[in-house]
Amino acid sequence: MGLASMEGGIALATPIRLAVLASGRGSNLQVLLDAWRQGELPVEFVGVGSDQPEAPALERARRAGVPTRVFVCDNKAEQEGQIVAWLRETGTQLLALAGYMRLLSGDFIQRAGAPIVNIHPSLLPDFPGLRAQRQALEAGVKVSGCTVHFVDEGMDTGPVILQRVVPVLAGDDEDKLSQRILQAEHQIFPEAVRLVCRRLTGSDI
Ligand code: GRF
Repeated sequence: MGLASMEGGIALATPIRLAVLASGRGSNLQVLLDAWRQGELPVEFVGVGSDQPEAPALERARRAGVPTRVFVCDNKAEQEGQIVAWLRETGTQLLALAGYMRLLSGDFIQRAGAPIVNIHPSLLPDFPGLRAQRQALEAGVKVSGCTVHFVDEGMDTGPVILQRVVPVLAGDDEDKLSQRILQAEHQIFPEAVRLVCRRLTGSDI
C-alpha cells in the first residue's frame, strides 16, 4: 500500500485510493475534493457513494469528475455487501464518511479492507449520535467542537484522530452553532485525512 517510487532521485509516495460515503449536502466532501484538486491531499479519489440518490454530495462529485454510486436497498446486510464490493472494485485504501447517516455494522468494518474515518460535530466522547449541536446546547456547555475519528462498531466511538474546539456563544441556536462548528470541520477533515494517508504510506507527504 502506498509504495514509494523514485523519479529523478525524488521519492514519490503513491497516492492513497480514497472513497467517500455521504448522505446529504456534502460540504465536507467538497473540502476534500478542493484539497485534492489543489494537490494538497496525497490521494486519488476513486469514488463517492451515497444511500440517497438525490444527495447534493453526488452532484459535487460529478462536477469534480469523480465516479459516483448509489446504494439503495432495504436490507442492511445486502446494502453493506454492495458497498464492500464497490470498495474492492475501486481498490479503496481509505474510506471517509462525510455526513453518512447510517451506522455501519461490525461485519462491514471487518470486510471493508480499508480504515474508515468519520467526521462528527462534537468533541467526542461527548454528544455522539444525531443532532450533536443541539445536544451540546441542551447540556449548556461553553465549548463544543468537532472530531475526526476512526470508525469502529459503536456510534461515534472509535479512536480520535483530530479535534477542534469551538465556543458556544450566548444567543446561539442550533443553526448558528452548527455553522460555527462546520467551519472548524472543514479545517480538520482534510488535515486528518492527510495524517492518515501519511500513516498509510509511511511517508512525510
Ligand atoms: C457534518 O456536520 C458532519 O459532522 C456530520 O454530518 C454533517 C454533514 O455535513 N457527520 P455535510 O454534508 O458535509 O455538509
